[in-house]
Amino acid sequence: MPLIAPSLLAANFLKLKEECDMLNESEADYFHLDVMDGVFVPNISFGLPVIEQIRTTTKKICDVHLMIVQPERYAEAFKKAGADILTVHIEACTHLHRNLQQIKSLGMQAGVSLNPHTPVDSLKDVLQDIDMVLIMSVNPGFGGQSFILQTLQRIRQLRKMIDEQGLNTRIEIDGGVTLENAASIVRAGADVLVAGSTVFKSADPKATIRQLKHIA
Ligand code: DX5
Ligand code: ZN
Repeated sequence: MPLIAPSLLAANFLKLKEECDMLNESEADYFHLDVMDGVFVPNISFGLPVIEQIRTTTKKICDVHLMIVQPERYAEAFKKAGADILTVHIEACTHLHRNLQQIKSLGMQAGVSLNPHTPVDSLKDVLQDIDMVLIMSVNPGFGGQSFILQTLQRIRQLRKMIDEQGLNTRIEIDGGVTLENAASIVRAGADVLVAGSTVFKSADPKATIRQLKHIA
């Protein structure tokens, strides 16, 4: 059964408390929180004060996805704001291994995200230091885009690398996840499904989360 990580980027920010309550009552496993700086990606979302507030509403795992340059400058601040998992982009890290050590030494789980063009085997030599790999299945920056089909092949390849090294690293898929493609994503080897529009734009978000959870 996959873990479900609804992305609050697609939530109604005027009703943030209700949206958080809905997730708390649902079968969602993580709160997926997308932070964008307008430099690493061509969009700006929300940051520390918003995450700090969201943290007070939930005991669920706060899964913070940093789409920012120089993420090492903010790791400690995101820990203080309440992040449980901190994911950085490999394309934004000159010293990825050091960044991962920093995140773990702060007491968070370390995630690494790959843009669609970044080869999965670029993680080969650091895989044992990563708690979760986030494979972007769209170009980061916006919700509501279509799933890039080649991602399925990338998931299978990463699954094989993880299994061959005997690791427990989780694979999270982010972007364009729908009720139609979720089963094939899980069958390819994904452990965690991020879903923004599919959850928050649906008529019954809680039911949609339940469907995603029991899809495979
Ligand atoms: C995109 C973000 C995603 C986004 C997914 O850059 O990382 O988490 O919210 O949105 P959907 O599920 O609508 O593609
Ligand atoms: Zn994300």
